[in-house]
Amino acid sequence: MARKVKGLDVGTMNLVGATQADDGSIKIKLMRHCFLDVDVSPFTKKMLLQQKVQYVEMGKKVYILGESAFELANIMNKVIRRPMKAGVMSPNESDAAPIFGLLVEAVIGKADGPNIPCYYCVPANPIDADFNIVYHSGIIAGALKNLGYIPKEMNEAHAVVFSELADQDFTGIGISCGGGMVNVCVSYKTIPAVAFSTSRAGDWIDKNVAQVLGTNSTRAAALKEKGVNLKSPKNREEEAIGIYYRNLISYTLNNIKAKFESTEGIPQFPDPVDIVCSGGTSLVGGFIDVFEEELKKMEFPIPINKVRLATEPLNATAKGLLLAALNDEEIVQEERKKTTK
Ligand SMILES: Nc1ncnc2c1ncn2[C@@H]1O[C@H](COP(=O)(O)OP(=O)(O)OP(=O)(O)O)[C@@H](O)[C@H]1O
Ligand SMILES: [Mg+2]
Repeated sequence: MARKVKGLDVGTMNLVGATQADDGSIKIKLMRHCFLDVDVSPFTKKMLLQQKVQYVEMGKKVYILGESAFELANIMNKVIRRPMKAGVMSPNESDAAPIFGLLVEAVIGKADGPNIPCYYCVPANPIDADFNIVYHSGIIAGALKNLGYIPKEMNEAHAVVFSELADQDFTGIGISCGGGMVNVCVSYKTIPAVAFSTSRAGDWIDKNVAQVLGTNSTRAAALKEKGVNLKSPKNREEEAIGIYYRNLISYTLNNIKAKFESTEGIPQFPDPVDIVCSGGTSLVGGFIDVFEEELKKMEFPIPINKVRLATEPLNATAKGLLLAALNDEEIVQEERKKTTK
């Protein structure tokens, strides 16, 4: 049996793990990237056991992981804790590193043998924020090593190209519209020609919608996720969501244009290419329609054939990371050696 290589999408809102099952199909496990700490007491432990909540005990605290943390935080009126902020690991979350390891284990498990690579994603360099990914990537690599994997880093939107543009020879534009950031990769035959990230993404919409409506971001996010269609807003709230979505999309497109025109040595795209959108932020109704409208308004430097949604927008990055791991030259050669022995 082939060793179980893994793909791990580390996102501000969700952790998504991808594994290949024995029948060749891809298995996805998604977990909300958050936790909640409560003081240990016989009462809390009994309650958590009764509720079948996923938790771990460390020192004097019980840490509740993932979706359960989110639900319990609402019931207990406590603030959820998130290891990541705006696309990267937050250095201010002091408990985050050990908890992060536990969350990752819940999603992909431990390595089931030596020398098993796990591809994980990192954002590309941001054009409108001041951070680098050194700390972020180091924390993820450390957690994966502790679980027995060989960590391998890959750009998030490049992973989207891997999962969604195989039929186009891995040529086209992959976009991951997440919670903390939008990641873009313009790829020519698997090679990224332009890759960058921006901080106008889901959280940015929530923050701005909350501000104009005089509410908080959590409520704004709930409004946004409950089934809005950008093309047919039913009230003032949905109109506000639509305005910020349109801005986010035109901002992203204008940045692709600017980057493309200012980068040297860009390949020519003789044939029109597809734009594939993925990530939770692309799930809103009418996303592709608005994207096409904004694209038509500008002179885009790359000929575009079609704008489409990824087959499974929330899983596209993890799937691409797994495909990259499965195509890892070192593994392929090792497996080949084994079968020719
Ligand atoms: N049905 C929906 N409609 C609109 N937005 C949604 C929907 N479902 C989820 N979202 C939004 O998608 C975002 C999370 O998407 P995703 O899981 O792709 O992000 P992430 O990978 O965790 O973050 P990042 O890549 O930016 O670090 C959040 O802003 C969330 O509010
Ligand atoms: Mg993401």
